[in-house]
Amino acid sequence: MANIWARKSTAILLDEAAQNDGTDGPTQPLRRTLSALNLIALGVGGIIGAGIFVLTGHAAAANAGPAISLSFLLGAVACGFAGLCYAEMASTVPISGSAYTYAYATLGELIAWMIGWDLILEYAVGATAVAIGWSGYVVSLARDFGLNLPARFISSPFAYDATQHAWSRTGTILNAPAAIVIVVITSLLVTGIRETARFNNLIGAAPAFNTANWITSGNPDGAFIPPNAGVGIYGWSGLVRGAAVVFFAYIGFDAVSTAAQEAKNPMRDMPVGILGSLVICTILYVVVGVVLTGIVPFDRLNVPDPMAVAIDAAGVSWLSPFVKLGIVFGLTSVILVMLLAQPRIFRAMAHDGLLPAAAAKIHPRFRTPYIATVSTGAVVAILAALLPIDLVGELVSIGTLFAFAVVSLGVLALRVTQPKLDRPFKAPAVWIVAPAGAATSVFLMFGLPADTWLRLAVWLAIGLVIYFAYGARHSRIQTDIRKR
Ligand code: ALA
Repeated sequence: MANIWARKSTAILLDEAAQNDGTDGPTQPLRRTLSALNLIALGVGGIIGAGIFVLTGHAAAANAGPAISLSFLLGAVACGFAGLCYAEMASTVPISGSAYTYAYATLGELIAWMIGWDLILEYAVGATAVAIGWSGYVVSLARDFGLNLPARFISSPFAYDATQHAWSRTGTILNAPAAIVIVVITSLLVTGIRETARFNNLIGAAPAFNTANWITSGNPDGAFIPPNAGVGIYGWSGLVRGAAVVFFAYIGFDAVSTAAQEAKNPMRDMPVGILGSLVICTILYVVVGVVLTGIVPFDRLNVPDPMAVAIDAAGVSWLSPFVKLGIVFGLTSVILVMLLAQPRIFRAMAHDGLLPAAAAKIHPRFRTPYIATVSTGAVVAILAALLPIDLVGELVSIGTLFAFAVVSLGVLALRVTQPKLDRPFKAPAVWIVAPAGAATSVFLMFGLPADTWLRLAVWLAIGLVIYFAYGARHSRIQTDIRKR
């Protein structure tokens, strides 16, 4: 019987970090090339995307009204607590693998595996969602230039009606732009992480610059928190549902932690990268939320391109193509960060024997985890070609919130089990911050519909079966225990 509670000792983790994980058979060291600034750019590039550019309008129109900026603050509070916990973990256990590795050190192998499995929802499925949003803006931009792309190849062939729980065919064939962007970015990622991060430095700043500058200030009309009209529709419950929807906009700051082995100075720079990018985005989102609902009546914002509507309302329509272009770049960088994080988590899992060893293989020349990167890209390209965005987006949010809750609890567990461990960054008031991180994450999960909960449960059940069929038998730690 497998010892599902087997933990990776901190000694093993620190040893792996010191050796830069380069001693085992097929794997070779990753290169330490990323500075604190690169890490912040990675975070900001990974955060600003479909959440702010697409979902904000929907959440303002349907759930929160002008109070959408308060929804953003609520989302930021949850992310802030979890972010402090991520920062402590990332500086103490500077191994790539994110919440998966942290759980392995604190909560045991089975929970670690389940978190790693759950993170596929955040990164691979997240990249899918953003690629679909990317396709929407590219199609709209092309139309601005008089180029009408063939309708049968620009959207998902399936639609899902959440109220009827029914799938239907849309009559189209596939979403080709969404699949193509995944293939192109995957190729970039195979050839080198530093080159990619440089590219990301540039495009990560573009949408932030635009959104902060092109919208003129205005006054919101009507009540700031519109009167409640049913559960999740305006009022305080709408504000919470809005926060659960726009939570998607914050996903990505934790991706910084997956680059821990490629950071020059992980102990100092991990917390700077994670918290720095979170703070920058919170300020930006609250400002955008206030300005957006101040210049456009919120019931007109339920469109795929709310930023374009705002520009028109501000009377500067000529700016529209430039802004859309900035947004396309912003979405590109999010896809890039997610497709960068996912194979690194697979690599960590394969290194531990929970996935086949091929996933840990590093390319001899490019020094990137090429097999994991290409497999991720292939699956994500197919999903992006076929699935509708709303379905995918909610699944990403619930999966990520679940991981946040577990990491927050893991920080506390590690403080209790390993009180003396050297922690270059310590979450302040951990007995308040860590439970608050778990509680606010679960609170936001309750903002999402029952269907989404069901999908999470099915996904985790599949993970459980795979663990007992493969991971429990091949786990490195289990093998060591058996040998002893
Ligand atoms: N935060 C990312 C986005 O908004 C996932 O697209």
